[in-house]
Amino acid sequence: MTEQPIRFAAAGDIHGHYRELVERLNDLVAEFGPIDFCIGVGDCEPLRDADDLASVKQPTERHGLGDFSEVVSGELVLPCPLLVIGGNHDPWIGYDALGYDGGGWSDGVEYLGRAGVKERFGLRIAYLSGLRSRKYSTTPRQPLAPDHKRYLKRMSRYDSTDVERVKRATGSDILVCHDWPSGIDPDPTSERGDETIREIIHAVGPSISLHGHRHVGNHGRIADTNVHCLGNITRDDSIAVFESTNKSIRRIDASASRAWRGRAGSTD
Ligand SMILES: [Fe+2]
Ligand SMILES: [Fe+2]
Repeated sequence: MTEQPIRFAAAGDIHGHYRELVERLNDLVAEFGPIDFCIGVGDCEPLRDADDLASVKQPTERHGLGDFSEVVSGELVLPCPLLVIGGNHDPWIGYDALGYDGGGWSDGVEYLGRAGVKERFGLRIAYLSGLRSRKYSTTPRQPLAPDHKRYLKRMSRYDSTDVERVKRATGSDILVCHDWPSGIDPDPTSERGDETIREIIHAVGPSISLHGHRHVGNHGRIADTNVHCLGNITRDDSIAVFESTNKSIRRIDASASRAWRGRAGSTD
């Protein structure tokens, strides 16, 4: 018997623009029907209040609470649950207060945690929060007090334990990381992307992997994995829609067949 398909979306860096996210998701629901859940690939900035704002490492020109407090108050209604990982601009003090394995952030929004795998909506979702750091990512994270001057920089980076843990998530359907893997930038001279994330894709072997951080869309293939990179939320290429049937996942939105546009310029 054929299973009921699971339909889900992936959103690129939201950076607090939840009004745009809700509009984009509502458009998708109108076009494709109900969406079971959405994954945010980090830099989601779901800032509930001034304390969350103070716990984000942001360039000062972008400092602001964003729209998430309207999601919390019920003024803005997400049409489906949102699962997020952490990027380099996220409320790390609040995320870490939930513990290594994350948890409920607000009604309908779950922070997945540092690294690992969780089953949600019948799918195994492997995840790695944070960015690579030459200095911090090859050793275990040392605990720091939240008021330590290096806390936000240090805590927004993954560590060696996170990498070991996500690499054990073999047999996962989806892998979500903040940065791109190396080797998929269309510019052959580019060294953009993270070699460790490429290794994780090889180790986990997910059906699809989802990435953000570089604020432009891209897609590629590594071994048997279809790699989808999402632009930031203000761009057309910020959202992808997938359907999973009998453990097979395919992308169903029109931009899946569109050629990659633009250079992978700034990271953010
Ligand atoms: Fe980022
Ligand atoms: Fe970003």
